[in-house]
Amino acid sequence: MTRDGTDGGATGEVRHDPFGLRSLDVEQLRRRPGAKWHRPGGRLAAWVADMDFPVAPAIRDRLIELATTDVGYPDWERAAASPLPLLFAGRMVDRYGWEPRLERLHELSDVVQGVRVALHHLTDPGDAVALHTPAYAPFLRTIERMGRRIVRVPWPFDHDRLDAELDDAGARVLLLCHPHNPTGHVFSRDELGHLAQIAARHDLEVVSDEIHADLTHPPHVHVPFEAVAAETVPVVAARSVTITSASKTFNTAGLRWAVLHAGSDRLHAVLAGLSEQYFGAPNLMAVAATEAAWTEGEEWLRSVLEVLDENRRALTALLAEHLPGAGYRPPDATYLAWIDCRPLGLGTDPAPVFAERGVEVSPGPTFGVEGAGHVRLNLATSPAVLERIVTSMGG
Ligand SMILES: Cc1ncc(COP(=O)(O)O)c(C=O)c1O
Repeated sequence: MTRDGTDGGATGEVRHDPFGLRSLDVEQLRRRPGAKWHRPGGRLAAWVADMDFPVAPAIRDRLIELATTDVGYPDWERAAASPLPLLFAGRMVDRYGWEPRLERLHELSDVVQGVRVALHHLTDPGDAVALHTPAYAPFLRTIERMGRRIVRVPWPFDHDRLDAELDDAGARVLLLCHPHNPTGHVFSRDELGHLAQIAARHDLEVVSDEIHADLTHPPHVHVPFEAVAAETVPVVAARSVTITSASKTFNTAGLRWAVLHAGSDRLHAVLAGLSEQYFGAPNLMAVAATEAAWTEGEEWLRSVLEVLDENRRALTALLAEHLPGAGYRPPDATYLAWIDCRPLGLGTDPAPVFAERGVEVSPGPTFGVEGAGHVRLNLATSPAVLERIVTSMGG
């Protein structure tokens, strides 16, 4: 990248690139300490859901400022322990027209922890949890380890069929991943309304992980499940939980911070009765980074969404050239591409084939049986690195 923030890019076309999103260097990426770029053989990394982009300058500056001044106990007496619940509530109103209740917000270390907390209090061992599959692997693992059963809702999602199956399934919770990882599906307002009706009919609590919400590509729009439930089936809003974080949107997964909204009266009653120590105090660095992201990160986010949109479109042509026959539909949201490799005849798990060709992707079968023959590819990199990744996948 030049000093004025422009970049020649793969095509030689000069693009304004003030945040260095288009000028990533693979050797530099390999020198990063995080998990993503540390795979055997120095494979190109397109697996775990971290972005290759540098964090927003506002986040970087705030973290440096803290690290160079004071990382001792915050002044709990003078300031609220964390400004984030209030900021979160305001952000939800402004962006999504949904007003979470402040007294029902709980800060946690991470989203999967929130899912576990909700399932722990809303279900018993042996109960079933309905889940859209293929599914984010930690959901499958969490449900199985907790001794709960899974009612699968296979892609492409058929909610009439789910409605019929739930009659005998013994399900207590519908666990939504909205937007959906790995398919990139954004549930429409109509779909969410339908799911709310189903939840009402079958007495389900609905736990909605909305961590990818800000990464929704127009014309798709994200509508929080709780907002739709409140408008259409209020009894379900009182049985709903929303869990999210700034960590996918702003690439801060290592900082560990998430928020849970207990719209569910049942969950609220349990959590309100627990002491503050049960949840632990939020991490000072995560709070500072999230505050900077939500108050000063908008321009960075707009630039990231532009590159992600370009990449999700470019992948269609890249696959046609390097892996002709692979099935791919650009995701409505997220930076994750769900690729059907069955027409390529690469077996149940194509990921080792791509690993041999020098690229680490997420193996489809880890997302459940519906992931056979698929891989998930992370698009959150520069257009030039994406091209290099897909070219290598072609062998
Ligand atoms: C749908 C979904 N939920 C949760 C997470 C992880 O969140 P956390 O690290 O806060 O548990 C991810 C990460 O990729 C995700 O895709």
